[in-house]
Amino acid sequence: MTTRHALVGCGSRGVEHLQALVAVPGAEIAACCDLDTDRLAESADQFDVPLRATKIDDLAAVGALDLVHVATMPSVRWPAVKALVDLRPRAILIEKPLATLPSEAARMFAACHEAGIGLFVNHQVPWHPAWPRVRRRLQAGAIGRITHVRASSMGSLFEQGSHLFDLLRYLLDDVASLATDSHSATRPWLLAQATGERARLPPHPGPAHTAGVLAVADDWHIAFECGCRSPRWPGTNAYWLNLGIEITGTRGTLGCSTNRGWWLHTPHESHSEARDYFDDDAPAQVAFLQSVVRSLDNPDAHSCGPVQARVSWNCILATQRSALLGRPVDPRDGATDQEITAFRRRLAGHS
Ligand SMILES: NC(=O)c1ccc[n+]([C@@H]2O[C@H](COP(=O)([O-])OP(=O)(O)OC[C@H]3O[C@@H](n4cnc5c(N)ncnc54)[C@H](O)[C@@H]3O)[C@@H](O)[C@H]2O)c1
Repeated sequence: MTTRHALVGCGSRGVEHLQALVAVPGAEIAACCDLDTDRLAESADQFDVPLRATKIDDLAAVGALDLVHVATMPSVRWPAVKALVDLRPRAILIEKPLATLPSEAARMFAACHEAGIGLFVNHQVPWHPAWPRVRRRLQAGAIGRITHVRASSMGSLFEQGSHLFDLLRYLLDDVASLATDSHSATRPWLLAQATGERARLPPHPGPAHTAGVLAVADDWHIAFECGCRSPRWPGTNAYWLNLGIEITGTRGTLGCSTNRGWWLHTPHESHSEARDYFDDDAPAQVAFLQSVVRSLDNPDAHSCGPVQARVSWNCILATQRSALLGRPVDPRDGATDQEITAFRRRLAGHS
């Protein structure tokens, strides 16, 4: 299948999208867009891209597009998507995290839905080989009945928390069910605390550090933590690779981290497989893009489409809302702009 692609945002992540597209069969890179003319020229030259634009509106000159990749920082996500909706591509793929405020994400979902444009969020980590191996063993009952889950990232809530909650959705069906209202267990809840106004990577909004509990089942909970004070997972030291999930069950423990690989320990079996994030990420991004291309006509069915992508985003919002209100909240309720703004003011010491 031939598909025509454009990229908005030629920073380091945008270039990784271009590198992956080269390996996607039938993908044509039709246009690149960046405000920064040096970055634009460098990417367009490297990938031999025919149309280069400094304004999103100018992408209209390239004709029909199947997928526009938006790899700007999150503060520019909604304005970029808004401009792209007028161009009517078949679908838009945005980098994580979705946005900086709840209303921006809601507008993106609504504008794309009304225009019949698919919206996908780039959570590619489940396409790394280690995570499906953990999921398969979990589903095969390797550790028995789940009793406890812990999940942490040294990257902040908006930065790596987006991947962390998406991986919880991927591994645990009870978390995935937060995408719909048909949750059959007791009402889910999330209780969190937070500190620090600034994330370590400033274009991602604070809080710098969060810790909390997410309950989606009657008899086990997820303890989560995002921020640079989170404990290191055994493995390489790079702070943003320190993202992992360990699931404990009645018969053992099963886990995976992006700085190490995956492991399974039971009284009868001890197994681990070392993985290198960088070796795995490029092919994972290619496989992820191929899956998006296959789902262009049915984005709701894709695990990073507009239905499932809300799980991670709503958990990010609920973490802040719970920290603001000082009580458990239903993660499906997300938060309002007023709550997130009030929370940021409090973190900054203004209230
Ligand atoms: N999925 C992943 O594993 C992964 C990995 C790294 C980064 N990311 C995410 O990717 C995003 C981008 O990260 P980055 O490090 O490449 O950022 P960056 O700031 O280096 O690059 C963003 C680019 O967007 C351009 N830009 C901004 N506004 C624009 C506009 N209106 N029109 C056109 N271009 C515009 C900027 O000039 C810049 O070149 C972030 O949200 C980050 O969290 C995801």
